[in-house]
Amino acid sequence: MVLPEPTIGDVLLSEEDIRSRLAELAADIDADYAGRDLVLLGVLKGAMMVMADLARMLAHDRVEIDWTSVSSYGDGTTSSGVIRMLKEPDLDLAGRNVLLVDDITDSGLTLSWLLDHLSSRAAASVRVFSLLRKPELVKAEVPIRYLGFDIPPDFIAGYGMDYAQRFRNLPYIATLNF
Ligand code: IMP
Ligand code: MG
Repeated sequence: MVLPEPTIGDVLLSEEDIRSRLAELAADIDADYAGRDLVLLGVLKGAMMVMADLARMLAHDRVEIDWTSVSSYGDGTTSSGVIRMLKEPDLDLAGRNVLLVDDITDSGLTLSWLLDHLSSRAAASVRVFSLLRKPELVKAEVPIRYLGFDIPPDFIAGYGMDYAQRFRNLPYIATLNF
């Protein structure tokens, strides 16, 4: 299959937009988890940038970081709906306070599948952080405790998010011109 070669379109969220919203959410997370353990469980690969920036803004001094990976998208721009576990978390999550950190909730299918999958791990609590959400596309309701921004339904890339594995390195979030 020959994939289109999109170019970078408009900047939807600048580095400063992202940074200032993350600082607010980090303050909320610090307050909510004060005196409790906290495992940040990032969803590879898209959450890599938001994980690195959010983790650095937390004042909480008992944070642990782990990663999980699932596949739901091919190289296209819509969810295949078929989700596979590619990497289980390394840490024993039993009795832990887990904050699932994801880049974007589109259909919500991935996060709801992950929440279901993690329910057998007997965590003390599992909450969801999602930097972005496309409310118009949500098919599976996901309880997002910490949300960065609601955005329009256009496909976006940058700040960890890709199109066919490209654009993850952009420090901002942009639309793509196909
Ligand atoms: P969902 O299962 O449809 O909610 O989407 C799951 C994953 O697809 C997200 O965590 C992202 O990694 C990826 N994704 C969804 N929408 C976009 C987009 O607009 N750009 C890049 N990746 C996306
Ligand atoms: Mg993701």
